[in-house]
Amino acid sequence: MAELFSILTTIIFFLLLLSSSSWAYSEEQSSFVLGEKRVKKPVYETESHFRFFWHDIVSGPSPTSVRVAQAPSEKNSTTFFGTIVMIDDPLTVGPELSTELVGRAQGFYAFSGKDSFGLLMAMTFVFTQGKYTNNTIVIMGRNDVVSEVREMAVVGGSGPFRHATGYAQARTHTLDNNTGDAIVQYDVFVTHS
Ligand SMILES: *[C@@H]1O[C@H](CO)[C@@H](O)[C@H](O)[C@H]1NC(C)=O
Ligand SMILES: *[C@@H]1O[C@H](CO)[C@@H](O)[C@H](O)[C@H]1NC(C)=O
Ligand SMILES: *[C@@H]1O[C@H](CO)[C@@H](O)[C@H](O)[C@H]1NC(C)=O
Repeated sequence: MAELFSILTTIIFFLLLLSSSSWAYSEEQSSFVLGEKRVKKPVYETESHFRFFWHDIVSGPSPTSVRVAQAPSEKNSTTFFGTIVMIDDPLTVGPELSTELVGRAQGFYAFSGKDSFGLLMAMTFVFTQGKYTNNTIVIMGRNDVVSEVREMAVVGGSGPFRHATGYAQARTHTLDNNTGDAIVQYDVFVTHS
């Protein structure tokens, strides 16, 4: 009899586990945990591959990339360690700035390598064109600019990119040694709703 009861409770437990997809509120929870629910992941997700060119314009009358902070020790650093650059860089379909503008990369990059060169990229791609207009993809990660291919994480986004996961690969297309202007190809692979 006790055994039968135990089997029944186990079955009921699993049935509840399978069926409960609505918010559950419990008074025993801490004040900041407002609710919890078990969700079944959707079977279908969209995987998108975007390619565009990122223009970091530091020279000229209207730079899109400006140095906003630097450490006092930067002058002695061969890697510019401690420097922060704010960006609002145009994203275009082709490597030339004159090609179609599809969005902007807004955020900053920080020189975070003390002994070797490396950037921390923290930026939001906001699309200004096409079906993802005004939607964003958030990128974060280390950008070892001297490597041929650098990988950074897609850490989320907005609209259809809410809860997005994925990665971005950056490849330098052109670096102007005189001005510092750079054109970088970004391939972004995103899994989203
Ligand atoms: C830079 O290096 C020089 C020579 O080693 C030193 O005198 C100076 O204090 C250093 N400056 C900073 C800001 O660290
Ligand atoms: C995108 O945002 C801009 C500025 O807020 C707005 O004018 C425009 O209508 C928006 N476009 C779409 C497609 O949502
Ligand atoms: C810029 O400098 C790098 C490193 O010194 C060099 O490899 C590259 O060829 C230069 N590019 C141009 C366009 O001069």
